[in-house]
Amino acid sequence: MEKARKLADILERVRGGEDPAKIRQQAKQLLATLRLSDISKAHKYLVGTGMSLDQLRTLVYAFASILGDQFALLRANLSADHPIRRVLAEHEMFECFLADLEIANIMIQDTDELTELSSEFRRLQHITEHLQAIDIHDQREDDLIFPVLENYPCRSICVVLSKAHWRIKNMVGNLTMAVNNFRQFDPIQFKIQINALSSAIVPIMREHIFQEDNILYPVAIDCVKDDRVWWRIKQLSDEMGYCGFDAQPCCS
Ligand SMILES: [Fe+2]
Ligand SMILES: [Fe+2]
Repeated sequence: MEKARKLADILERVRGGEDPAKIRQQAKQLLATLRLSDISKAHKYLVGTGMSLDQLRTLVYAFASILGDQFALLRANLSADHPIRRVLAEHEMFECFLADLEIANIMIQDTDELTELSSEFRRLQHITEHLQAIDIHDQREDDLIFPVLENYPCRSICVVLSKAHWRIKNMVGNLTMAVNNFRQFDPIQFKIQINALSSAIVPIMREHIFQEDNILYPVAIDCVKDDRVWWRIKQLSDEMGYCGFDAQPCCS
C-alpha cells in the first residue's frame, strides 16, 4: 500500500498543475518499479480518502501523463483473438461515430431550412442509430467483463466506469428521442437540443473510452493472468457478436 500511497501523492501533484515531465523525472525510481496493478491500488486508496468520482475521473489523465501511452502497449501485446481486442475495436468504431456526430451537429446548426428530408437531418439520424450500439457494448462490459474484474484489484475502477455507462445511456437515449420526435420540435429548439446533447455526449464518451483504453484494460491484463478467465469471457462475448457491426446485432 505504501507504493500506492506514493503514487496517489504523485497523481495529486499532477492534478494540482505540476509539470508531469518534471515529476516523472523526480519519481523515476518509483515509476520504474511500478506495476499496472499498483494503479488500481492507488485508485482504491484515493476513493478511501473521500475523493469524489468526478475528481477521480480527472486523475485518469494524470495516470496517462506519467505512465505514457498504455493503449499502444496494450494493443501491441494482445493476441488477435483476445476478447479485449474486440472491446478496443468497438471503442475505435465509436470514436468514428463521435467524430461523425460532431460534424452532423455542425451541419444541422448551419442549415437554414431543416426538414426530415434534409440531408443534414438524415445524416444525424443515421449516426444516432449507430451510436445506440453503445448500449450493447456497455452491456458486454457491465455483464461479462466488469463482474470478473471485480475479483481482482480493478474493482474501484470498474465501479467508476460502470456509473458512467448510465450517464452515457441516458444521453444517447435523449439524442435518439429528440431525433425520433423531430416533428414535435420547433426547428430552432431542435437545433439547440441537438447542440446541447452532442456537446455533452462527444467529450464524455471520448473520456470514457480513453479511461478504459489507457487504464482499465491495461490494468486488467496485468492483473488477470489466468487465460481460462479470458477464454470464458471470450465464449460469452462471442454470443453477443460485434455490436454496431452485426446485421442482426447482439442479444436481439
Ligand atoms: Fe465502458
Ligand atoms: Fe468500453
